[in-house]
Amino acid sequence: MEGKGILTIDIPLYQALIQHRKTEQISLHMPGHKGKADCLVPLADILGFDVTELPSTGSLFDAEGPTLLAEEAATRAFKTAGTFFSAGGCTLCIQAMLRLIAPSGGKIIMDRVVHRSAVNAMALLNLTPIWVWPRQDAGPGLAGRINAQDVADALQKNPDARAVYLTSPDYYGVMSDLHAICAQATKYQVPVIVDSAHGAHLFFLDRRLHPLSQGAAMCADSAHKTLPVLTGGAFLQIGDARYLPDVRDAMALFGSTSPSFPILLSLDLCRAWLEEQGEAALAETATQAALLNAYARTRGFLAPEGPCDPLHLVWNTAQAGISGRQAAFHLREAGIEAEYADDAFLILLLSPFNTQEDFSRLRHAVKTMPTGTPFAPPCLLPAPPPVAMTPREALLASRERISVRQAAGRIAAQVACPCPPAIPTVMPGESITEECATMLAQSGILEIQVVK
Ligand SMILES: Cc1ncc(COP(=O)(O)O)c(C=O)c1O
Repeated sequence: MEGKGILTIDIPLYQALIQHRKTEQISLHMPGHKGKADCLVPLADILGFDVTELPSTGSLFDAEGPTLLAEEAATRAFKTAGTFFSAGGCTLCIQAMLRLIAPSGGKIIMDRVVHRSAVNAMALLNLTPIWVWPRQDAGPGLAGRINAQDVADALQKNPDARAVYLTSPDYYGVMSDLHAICAQATKYQVPVIVDSAHGAHLFFLDRRLHPLSQGAAMCADSAHKTLPVLTGGAFLQIGDARYLPDVRDAMALFGSTSPSFPILLSLDLCRAWLEEQGEAALAETATQAALLNAYARTRGFLAPEGPCDPLHLVWNTAQAGISGRQAAFHLREAGIEAEYADDAFLILLLSPFNTQEDFSRLRHAVKTMPTGTPFAPPCLLPAPPPVAMTPREALLASRERISVRQAAGRIAAQVACPCPPAIPTVMPGESITEECATMLAQSGILEIQVVK
């Protein structure tokens, strides 16, 4: 740091980020701008854009001025009934969606592959989940997809359900058949809402893949994950115009009254980039991803089976006899940082801001990756645990942290979720079974918060 603002004491976060930058690793993780999106160049002067809500900038939740114009431009670009900006990530969009769908509590038919943000929102809104479990149809060790018939069965048993809530694509890029699920939900006149945090790029890659194109009433796109947007930027996409009058109040209920203008600006810049260059750039990245997947397959690294997001590279490294962590270590040595790795899987997130050089380096690293004797990924899917109280009761209860080895018979006060399969083993309010406790310990989760 130089000049007037020079500081001499320790600044741990600054020092860590400078250190990270010096490594010059190729980013195959979030955020999607990869530190080099040309369209975000104006944000190099971030202090100059970090303003408050002024007459000249407009007010996000009051729907005024240039922020409103920017959202209207996004609405036209995504061809939605309404596109709304969030500087509070997809988390804020998820909270708003649930509030819009069930303002005063009730039942929601819910994909068990659910992010913590939705569980927290359920607690705040006093919602009761009716879980639908994925079918494990994406290959060993993965949660797989939600099946339309399973959703229909849940709707039939719960005629008072307010909505169907799904995650697609999931963290592993696995996509459920939203079209079929929406068709079932329509029969019961129930809206489908989708956490599409990992699919913000889908509309401009192939609009048929986007949740709203498949019949969802609304979805939450975490733009910063795969698009050139600052961390924390997301789009709430509304397909059903009946919800429009209440969207801003629902966002304002949970959101900060001081949304970050640099984040909002990055959403506006991203929208312009998507319209001008996005389609071609995303299509090219998808081509590169398909080539890398095909090459990885020749070395024994298998992608999930069935429909998946084209920009997620998810490899079952166990089938090539190497753990995901070892594979990530090998990549790191080659100057590449992965999104996620564990015993059996490696996740790499590509975006149009990865270069040809990045892809070549990755291909070479895959070529030189050591392999061994295949082994099966651990199975981490328990039988559905019994429910003792609602998520709200459990999340707001007084709690204590104990060893999972002593947790059988206690009521969970948190989401405990091994990744993979990224299906929570226990949810707040569920009784921890012996089986759950063993699985959590096996997956490296050694402590858990329980209701006192
Ligand atoms: C499936 C899923 N949903 C929602 C979120 C929350 O998104 P955000 O970090 O933008 O709030 C995440 C974050 O990783 C996620 O993986």
